[in-house]
Amino acid sequence: MTVLVTGGAGYIGSIVTEELVNSGNHVVVLDNLSQGHQTAVVPEAVFIKGDLCDQEILHNTLQKYGVDVVMHLAADKSVENSMIEPGKFFWNNVACGINLLDCMVKNGVMSMVFSSSAAVYGQPKEIPITEDAPLDPVNVYGESKLIFERILRWYGEIHGLKSISLRYFNVAGASKRFGSDCRPETNLIPIIIEVALGQRKYLSVFGDDYDTEDGTCIRDYIHVLDIARAHILALNHLDAYTSTKVFNFGSGDGYSVLEVVEEARKVTGATIPIDFCPRRPGDPPKLVASSDLAKKNLGWRLEYPRLEQIIKSAWLWRKEHPTGYDY
Ligand SMILES: NC(=O)c1ccc[n+]([C@@H]2O[C@H](COP(=O)([O-])OP(=O)(O)OC[C@H]3O[C@@H](n4cnc5c(N)ncnc54)[C@H](O)[C@@H]3O)[C@@H](O)[C@H]2O)c1
Repeated sequence: MTVLVTGGAGYIGSIVTEELVNSGNHVVVLDNLSQGHQTAVVPEAVFIKGDLCDQEILHNTLQKYGVDVVMHLAADKSVENSMIEPGKFFWNNVACGINLLDCMVKNGVMSMVFSSSAAVYGQPKEIPITEDAPLDPVNVYGESKLIFERILRWYGEIHGLKSISLRYFNVAGASKRFGSDCRPETNLIPIIIEVALGQRKYLSVFGDDYDTEDGTCIRDYIHVLDIARAHILALNHLDAYTSTKVFNFGSGDGYSVLEVVEEARKVTGATIPIDFCPRRPGDPPKLVASSDLAKKNLGWRLEYPRLEQIIKSAWLWRKEHPTGYDY
């Protein structure tokens, strides 16, 4: 299979690419390097520096490499920034995505695995969250993902495009070769590790007055290798469905910010000072997944269920690459 991975030089995309190559696929990565790093792309994959909004590059790439399936990970992902620059997020995550879909249809590439997010649920009424929970995003990022999922449904009905949307919860950890190096880092575990390495003075904790046991937000952390495997399973199941499908991917366990810090202190042996700040707009108090549907329909299983395994892998990678991909 020849797979185009958009955003394949980014954190998750680089590890999805690694897994795709390991399972015998030809991979072409398209990334504009706004966040990604070319050195994060395995040498077995073709790398193309290009933007989703560029019709010509997309068209040439799909044609030249005979792409069968697109894994669409390229996006802007900072929830905080999405509440400052909504236009940028709708442009990149929706409009540029439509550009990609139209190029795919024109070139007869009719299958996509899409990186969606738990952010489509907003403030869930019931935990754990199942796929049929109300969809009511509380930030622009989540709205942009939901709009794109809905667009996929219509491209399915009208053009027959097959798609599976993977609603990831909080992805963290590293493979042996690749890890997170986003600039600036916006995800909790990589930030904690920067504090543990002495690259930041302290961790800012946004809000200690949420309706949770210790007052900090609760999230469901999932190992990036478990997410990468989910992509391979989705790829193998694209033909099993006539309509577009969505699946949640999380560990099913929720950890508060303070619990993650405590676990990171154990793994790294560092003090990890924290500083409490006011809440950020658009942060729901608690997000924990039910991934039963993915287990039942895709045969997905967690290989790294413990938070300690996730933090340890991220810590080991970053200790070996203290300046990330600048080596
Ligand atoms: N990290 C998480 O916990 C998480 C959770 C849920 C969903 N997701 C989704 O997973 C996907 C990957 O996330 P990530 O954490 O690897 O983020 P990332 O920022 O590391 O990767 C995204 C990549 O897309 C590239 N990109 C962005 N816009 C582009 C464009 N217009 N053209 C070409 N390339 C472009 C960036 O350079 C980057 O390499 C995103 O769609 C994100 O929304 C991530």
